Amino acid sequence: MKAVELDYPIYTLDKRLLLPAGDKLSSKVLDELIARDKGKSYKVIPFLEHSTVYRDLRRLFQEPPYDLIFGEQERAFALSLMKKINFMVPVLEFLDYFKEHDFYTYRHTLMVFALSTILARDLLGKSEDLIMEAMAGTIHDFGKICVPLEILKKSDPLTRTNKNILEHHALAGFVLLSYFHRDQRSFAARVAKEHHERRDGSGYPLGISLKDSMVEAIAACDVYDALLSPRPYRPIPYDNRTALEEITAMTQQGKLSWKVTQVLISHNRKDKPHFRECKISFEKRGKPPADNIYGVIKDEEPDTGERKNDK
Ligand SMILES: [Fe+2]
Ligand SMILES: [Fe+2]
Repeated sequence: MKAVELDYPIYTLDKRLLLPAGDKLSSKVLDELIARDKGKSYKVIPFLEHSTVYRDLRRLFQEPPYDLIFGEQERAFALSLMKKINFMVPVLEFLDYFKEHDFYTYRHTLMVFALSTILARDLLGKSEDLIMEAMAGTIHDFGKICVPLEILKKSDPLTRTNKNILEHHALAGFVLLSYFHRDQRSFAARVAKEHHERRDGSGYPLGISLKDSMVEAIAACDVYDALLSPRPYRPIPYDNRTALEEITAMTQQGKLSWKVTQVLISHNRKDKPHFRECKISFEKRGKPPADNIYGVIKDEEPDTGERKNDK
């Protein structure tokens, strides 16, 4: 990878500093970091056996529009696959942390993961090995442990600095998952780094053009689930129709591929057509929710560190 300077530090959930702000992140630096704690090993536990994950997923599958997407067959497929997936303890600790402190991120992580399993089946074919490989440890927002909760949960517009700290989660997740998986080329690490990149190069952190359809599928699920969720900056979520129209608009702008969009939309159709036969509607009937301040940036807050009597 091209060396990139880190604007903010990267640390683990127990506040162990992995890389300080100002360090140049490169493949060599990452390899050195991975080698640093080579002897360390992490226990792995079946994902669905952890805490309330299984119960929460079953409940979330019943909420619209997921009740339609996860028909009996899809639900059975997603759960049987997830039953075989093990997560290492630091990943499970990520889930526990967000379940306690920012339930949206916890729920979003579970749903993007579950949704990605059925998109993976369409994109990668029936080979369970391939799907398992793609899904192992793909916790796309892992780097959010490096973003203060006040910023994640902020309900008024973000400042430019807040936004930069938030966007830091992509590189942070890449470093953290490379470190925990001992492999900077692992799919999980790549998903963390690239899930905000777009096909036309308009995304972040590097502005590269997204080419891997499986990473792109996870990116599409990420946007889709975020639109469907009430957020601090958007108390009323998008309805399903309008969310799919947003995804279609992104595709028309060249940010996502038609193939991935067809896969996502095909799962929203009652008759579940094969994605290649799924015709996309360009009719704009949806209405984005009012009071949506996503993307609004406000001026920096005045520096409160100034001493009042300094005159
Ligand atoms: Fe993200
Ligand atoms: Fe996300």
